[in-house]
Amino acid sequence: MIKIPPFVQNLKPYKAGKPIEELMREKQLRRIVKLASNENPLGPSPKAIEALQQHVQELNRYTDPSSYELVHAIADKYHVQPNHVICGHGTDSLLAYIVGAFTRESDEVLTSEGTFIGIYVSVRKAGRKIVQVPLENYTFDLDAIIDAITEKTAMIYLANPNNPTGTMFERGTFEAFMKRVPDHIMIILDEAYTTYADHHPDYPNGLAYDYENMVVTRTFSKAYGLAGLRIGFAVGPDAVIESLYKVKLPFEPGLPAQKAAIAALDDDEFLRETADLNRKSLAHLRKGLAEIGIEQVETAANFILTLMPDAKFAARFCKECLNHGLILRHVDTFGIARGVRINSGTMDETEFALSVIGDVYRKLNAL
Ligand SMILES: Cc1ncc(COP(=O)(O)O)c(C=O)c1O
Repeated sequence: MIKIPPFVQNLKPYKAGKPIEELMREKQLRRIVKLASNENPLGPSPKAIEALQQHVQELNRYTDPSSYELVHAIADKYHVQPNHVICGHGTDSLLAYIVGAFTRESDEVLTSEGTFIGIYVSVRKAGRKIVQVPLENYTFDLDAIIDAITEKTAMIYLANPNNPTGTMFERGTFEAFMKRVPDHIMIILDEAYTTYADHHPDYPNGLAYDYENMVVTRTFSKAYGLAGLRIGFAVGPDAVIESLYKVKLPFEPGLPAQKAAIAALDDDEFLRETADLNRKSLAHLRKGLAEIGIEQVETAANFILTLMPDAKFAARFCKECLNHGLILRHVDTFGIARGVRINSGTMDETEFALSVIGDVYRKLNAL
């Protein structure tokens, strides 16, 4: 009889939302708007689509394991050395490699409550222990993280802006933190939402630093609109990147993902449109939510964390919105039991969302 290790037995399988088509059939809805996964409402970068079409005939070939062309495109764009860059199947995959390669079984990974669920999963899947400190005002509390370091801490995970809260920590706070953190502890700085925050004068751009103990992760899933392709990259010291190449599956990321990402990197116009729409759509959403009377957290990303009266209300609110064709994310599994996350949509989707949210919120409040 095969023995399943306790850390695997205790894992919960990822629960994906129902496919949109299935929901439409089941609930007999004419329209469904999904604002639950922080995706780009404009679709994929048009340059990426063109590249995919151009390279489709090459799918019989194995891909380049070193992503040479993409790595060099990233290095050129962000002024980093190519041997400091590695690409993978999205940030999720890279996080799993980083945790696996740089922690041992007895080590602990320190982070915050109320941050990206993917890090909790990566750490637990590897059989390591995750230690979480509370958020302060829905923001990473970097001082509390320093205070929580023990001799078992091997790694610290930070997300800036954070998901699901949307908050960011500023340059001064980050630099003071890096000065205090012992340099044998590996810092992961996850910048999945950097495009939405980098106009902020105090946003610390992780790629502008070259700390010996820090890896920065970025993704093409959000602003570039390529979530379905699975592609992201990490930038860090050469020894760290060299080790990650040793653990990475050789043909990851696949050829279409590499080609699309190279083209997307060059699509400044799409990125500008994405950021513009996000600003407009979030402002509209914020105003509408305030008029309905829903509590919300200040955001530097492409989504807003709203706070419902309690966890039960939040669950019912999401269920009711779903019945009306609006998919939102109850972020209890991220550690914020009364939180519901809504990402920015097209102006039309945002309008639809506000009308559903208003009806549902008022109805539940009247019960
Ligand atoms: C903070 C953060 N990091 C990483 C990811 C995952 O990115 P990817 O699609 O590249 O795996 C997400 C997606 O929601 C995220 O919010």
